[in-house]
Amino acid sequence: SKDSCVVFTVLGASGDLAKKKIFPSLCNLFEKKILPPTCQIIGCARSSMTTQQLADKSNPFMKAKNKDVLTEFWKRVSYVSCGAYDKAEGFITLSDKIEEFEKSHGGEKRFRLFYLALPPAVFIPVCTQLKNNCWIQSRSKSLEKFTSDRYTAECRVIVEKPFGKDLESSNQLSQAITALFNEQEIYRIDHYLGKEMVLNLMILRFGNELFRSVWNRERIACVVITFKEPFGTYGRGGYFDTNGIIRDVMQNHLLQILCLVAMERPVSVHASDIRDEKVKVLKFIRPLDLDDVVLGQYTGNPDGQTEDSKLGYRDDPGVPNDSKTATYACAKLNIDNDRWAGVPFFIKCGKAMNERKAEIRIQFKDTPSDIFGSKCKRNELVIRVQPDEAVYCKMNVKSPGMSFEAEESELNLTYHERFQDMDLPDAYERLILDFILGTQTNFVRTDELAEAWRIFTPLLHKLDAGAKTPVEYPYGSRGVASADDFIRDSGFKFSGTY
Ligand code: BG6
Repeated sequence: SKDSCVVFTVLGASGDLAKKKIFPSLCNLFEKKILPPTCQIIGCARSSMTTQQLADKSNPFMKAKNKDVLTEFWKRVSYVSCGAYDKAEGFITLSDKIEEFEKSHGGEKRFRLFYLALPPAVFIPVCTQLKNNCWIQSRSKSLEKFTSDRYTAECRVIVEKPFGKDLESSNQLSQAITALFNEQEIYRIDHYLGKEMVLNLMILRFGNELFRSVWNRERIACVVITFKEPFGTYGRGGYFDTNGIIRDVMQNHLLQILCLVAMERPVSVHASDIRDEKVKVLKFIRPLDLDDVVLGQYTGNPDGQTEDSKLGYRDDPGVPNDSKTATYACAKLNIDNDRWAGVPFFIKCGKAMNERKAEIRIQFKDTPSDIFGSKCKRNELVIRVQPDEAVYCKMNVKSPGMSFEAEESELNLTYHERFQDMDLPDAYERLILDFILGTQTNFVRTDELAEAWRIFTPLLHKLDAGAKTPVEYPYGSRGVASADDFIRDSGFKFSGTY
């Protein structure tokens, strides 16, 4: 509203995430005139640089190609160097800068928003400095000044994964952060929760009687959630090797999707009601063991088309030659509640595969009797998250023409055909807007995070100790072939189009 003043600070402004995702998303919101008119942006990092230098780093990643838009956008941004992340000095400078904007804009309501686009090692020092120096009610040194001015501000912080390495380290991190901020001030981002098709899941499930009534173990045979990327970890090998694909993608992005597929209907769409249901369904999932996963690691493909594809995971200079870190994983999860007992949920993800794809496949049971000469295939509802967002349902129809035979076809809702003029926002764009508006629904709560780690920690500890060697798969392939058997043996029926 007009009487509010928003100052959005990006910490780690010179890093990759800031230049590729955060500034471009803020610029899109600015271009669409969704960014609050009084919103000021501060880029903040350790090094000294000019706002222009910051703009030059980020401009190649901007969607807005109109020069005027970019110029106007960067006029809203100023760069502040905060020096060392664990010293008060730089954060006092930052707070003074924020205050300067607040003073010049006036406004009854003030919002101080901080995006921590920083490596985990500095989370706590930075949060501590923010709390001591930039959280308006708690800034001890200038408390008098603020008290005499009689204004307060709502302060919020976005933190990025990794949120720890296992249950214990994550709990420690959570304790340290919750000692500084309330849950209402903490926004743990999982950008998959901002994707159009992931957001679509609740409306599809709870807004359509057609789906709501069959969404259970009576009708569903199996669920498969897939994430594939056609590039390797090159350039990120150091980070990746200490994490692996399970921590990088599965424990967060894919498990979040699983929650939305499997949770019970929340009482309302309010953040706490939805997050309560996600926690509940996670509690029904048994922790994973070695037999519940198939693991893979990619090797270079000598016939590969690109330089990257000729290199295997262990060729990365940041990766030890004997690394057993998985770049591919397929896990089977069981949800021991009334709705899902006996229905396997597979989540699988891999780097350096044949294509970029993220999708959810709900496979229904066989029809009780097929009077059409065993021609009827199982129904499958597919929600394609990316690329080319779509919802389609595989079903049997009469083969068109004179014959009377069953044939598999599709009820197809491909978004770019159905909603032609719609420009779907990037996940970061949507979540940054939620953050500005103070909506926590699509951010991860502390207890949700702890449940997610509880499921994966026993397995991860065994894998960290080298208990399972990943199977090799060539760069650009479909991944580990035995994962198909693993899925098939649990009751999924593959059809030609899978
Ligand atoms: C990130 C992972 O969280 O998600 C990356 O760290 C991965 O390894 C990325 O590439 C995938 O995101 P998207 O939106 O490109 O599917």
